[in-house]
Amino acid sequence: MKEIYKGKAKTVYEDGNEVVIEFRDDITAFDAVKHNQIKGKGFYNAQTSAKLFELLEKNNIKTHYIGMDDDIRMRAKHVEIVPLEVIVRNIAAGSITKSYPIKEGKEFEKPVILFDLKNDAYHDPLLNEDVAEALGVSNREEMNDIRNIALRVNEVLKSFFAEHKIKVVDFKLEFGRYKNELLVADEISCDTCRFWNEKNESLDKDLYRFDKGDVLAGYKRIYDIVTSSIGTQS
Ligand SMILES: Nc1ncnc2c1ncn2[C@@H]1O[C@H](COP(=O)(O)OP(=O)(O)OP(=O)(O)O)[C@@H](O)[C@H]1O
Ligand SMILES: [Mg+2]
Repeated sequence: MKEIYKGKAKTVYEDGNEVVIEFRDDITAFDAVKHNQIKGKGFYNAQTSAKLFELLEKNNIKTHYIGMDDDIRMRAKHVEIVPLEVIVRNIAAGSITKSYPIKEGKEFEKPVILFDLKNDAYHDPLLNEDVAEALGVSNREEMNDIRNIALRVNEVLKSFFAEHKIKVVDFKLEFGRYKNELLVADEISCDTCRFWNEKNESLDKDLYRFDKGDVLAGYKRIYDIVTSSIGTQS
């Protein structure tokens, strides 16, 4: 298989009209200024993502997910990634508390959706529909569709994790265009979500970003929940 992309945490291989996404142990934060390897992290992210994509599919949300080739390699439809990071926030944390006058931990009355341009050189700037259209990266109609799917994903994730007393604080989605459809793509893992337990302790990449504790233990906690509660689909 031909390697088509090596990102900060995953390597993507092309296999016909499918891709194989390898989840590596690399972990980065703050535009990759902070970079380490944590043995086993790729495994937890791959498995957690697989189960959460299965959960979305069960709830009639279309994703790129096909299956797992092995423990750390996900087979997916080869989509054209919409160059937007779609961020869904239920509770204020992270960058929104720096950019806007809002305190960490504040629960939003309704989910807040933000679109960032996927562009590391420009530090993934926030953009609206007009900018997206002007840059030719998306358009109002597509962004409205993305928004509606993101809200459905949020409802599924929130209600699943609530059963396990975990708060879905926020998360980032990527979408792919595939045969006239929008699919949820990339990954849904502790690298891309904020999860808090009942004591509002992080079980996600904030453990790494801010040296809050045992990173792998947090990732394993989420992995244990999703792998023990979401059945395998045929
Ligand atoms: N189904 C898919 N088809 C094609 N590309 C995909 C698919 N799912 C995810 N990708 C892309 O694969 C790459 C995964 O690598 P990784 O997440 O490590 O990248 P990254 O360092 O975060 O960089 P980027 O800014 O490109 O996301 C991302 O660019 C992501 O957009
Ligand atoms: Mg990425």
